[in-house]
Amino acid sequence: QLAPNGCPVSANAAAFNPFEPAYMQSPGDYLRWAREQEPVFWSPQLGYWVVTRYEDVKAVFRDNILFSPAIALEKITPAPPQVMEILQSYGFAMNRTMVNEDEPDHMERRRLLMDAFLPERLSTFEPMVRSLARQYMDRFVDKGRADLVREMFYEIPLNIALKFLGVPDEGAEQLRQFAVAHTLNTWGRPSPQEQLEIAHNVGRFWQTAQQILDDMRARPDGEGWMYETIRQHLAHPDVVPESYMRSMMMAILAAAHETTSNATANAFLTLLTQRKAWEDICANPALIPNAVEECLRVAGSIIAWRRIATDDAVVGGVRIPKGGKLLVVMASANFDPRHFENPDEVDVYREGAVEHLTFGYGAHQCMGKNIGRMQMRVFLEEFVRRLPHIRLVAGQQIDYLSNTSFRGPSELWVEWDPALNPGRSGS
Ligand code: HEM
Repeated sequence: QLAPNGCPVSANAAAFNPFEPAYMQSPGDYLRWAREQEPVFWSPQLGYWVVTRYEDVKAVFRDNILFSPAIALEKITPAPPQVMEILQSYGFAMNRTMVNEDEPDHMERRRLLMDAFLPERLSTFEPMVRSLARQYMDRFVDKGRADLVREMFYEIPLNIALKFLGVPDEGAEQLRQFAVAHTLNTWGRPSPQEQLEIAHNVGRFWQTAQQILDDMRARPDGEGWMYETIRQHLAHPDVVPESYMRSMMMAILAAAHETTSNATANAFLTLLTQRKAWEDICANPALIPNAVEECLRVAGSIIAWRRIATDDAVVGGVRIPKGGKLLVVMASANFDPRHFENPDEVDVYREGAVEHLTFGYGAHQCMGKNIGRMQMRVFLEEFVRRLPHIRLVAGQQIDYLSNTSFRGPSELWVEWDPALNPGRSGS
C-alpha cells in the first residue's frame, strides 16, 4: 500500500484508527510509536496525514496560509446522500465561522470581535464563576459522593458561556444532546444508521441556534459577545456577513462550554489520579495556575485539529501533496520529549507547562483560552479549600465519546467523608 506521496504505508500507520477506544483513553500513549518512529504518517483508514511531534504540529499551526483551517469543521466521516437531505430539510447551512476561515477575512473579523475577550472584560466573570461553584458545591458537599460532570462541571461552563455570549438560558438543557450530535457529526465515525439520527439532532441544533439569533437580532442592544457580533454585522456587513453570524451561533454554543467542561473534568481526573500532585496544590494553592496548564498539557479537551495543504508542502521531512488533509494531534505533541522533559510525568511545578498546544497556535489560537483557564482555576481553588480529601471512586470505568477531537469523561465519580470537611459553608 502506498501513501499519496508514493511512499509505502507502514503496518502501524495502516492500523491507526482514532475511533478505537485506545485513542481516546490515552491519545499520547496511542501515538507514542509515531512520535518515535514515524512522526508524520499517512493514515489510510482516515485519509489524513497525521502529525505527532511538537515542532511539526506547531509549524503547521504557524503557517495558516499553506495549511488552511478551511476543513476544521468538515464532516470527517463522509455522509450518505440521505444525511445531506435531512440536514437540508432543517435549512442547515454551516459555513465559515472564525475557526475555519482563511486570510485575510479571518484576521479582519477576529480584530473586530476581540474586545469581549480582553482581560479587563473577562474579570467580571470570575466572581460569577466562584459564586456558582459555591452554590453547586453546597448541594453535594454533605453527601459524600458526586458525579462531578453531571452535578457541576457541565452546567457551570454552560451558564458562563451563555452569559458571555448573551444567550438567554431557557432551553439550555437541550444543548448537551445537541453538542454531542454536533461532535459526532463533525469528528466522529457514526454508522450510516446512526448518521441519520445524528443528522436530525444537528438539524434541530441549527434551527434552535437560528431562533436564538433571530430573537437576539430583534433587540440588538443586549450585552454579550453574540450581540457585539450582531452590531458589528450591522456596522460592517462585508467583514461580518450574515452567513458567518448564522454559522458562528451554532458553532460557539458548543465550543464555548464543551471544551471547558471537558478540560475541567480531565484536570480533576488527572490530579486525583496523581495524588501527589493533588496534595501539592492543596498544600499550596498558589500552584493552581501552573497545575491548570500542566493538566491542559497532559489531558487537554481538544486533542487533535485539522488543516488542509493549499500547495505541495513538507512537514517533518515528509512530502505532502497539495490538497492533503492533516490531522495535527496536539495531545501527542504535548508528550513530545524533544520539547517537554519527562513528558509522561504530571508535574505541577513544571516550567514551560504553558507551552502546550491544546489551544492551537498562531493566528487562530483559541480566543476563549483565558475564560477556560479562569474557570478551571476557580473550580480547583474551591475544591482544595472545601473538599481537599475527595478521592476518585475506585474501579469506575472512564468513558469518552468516540471522535478525533473532543475529549472528556462522560461521568466522573468522586467520594469523601463529609465529617472531614474543613469548611462547611460556601464563603
Ligand atoms: C479556537 C481549544 C475554550 C472560543 C480554538 C482552537 C482550539 C481551541 C484548539 C483552534 C485553534 C487553532 O486553530 O489554532 C479550546 C479549549 C478550550 C477552549 C481547549 C477550553 C479549555 C473556548 C471558549 C471560547 C472559545 C470558552 C469562547 C467563549 C474560540 C474561538 C476560536 C477558538 C472563537 C476561533 C479562533 C480563530 O479561529 O481565530 N479553541 N477552546 N474557546 N476558540 Fe477555543
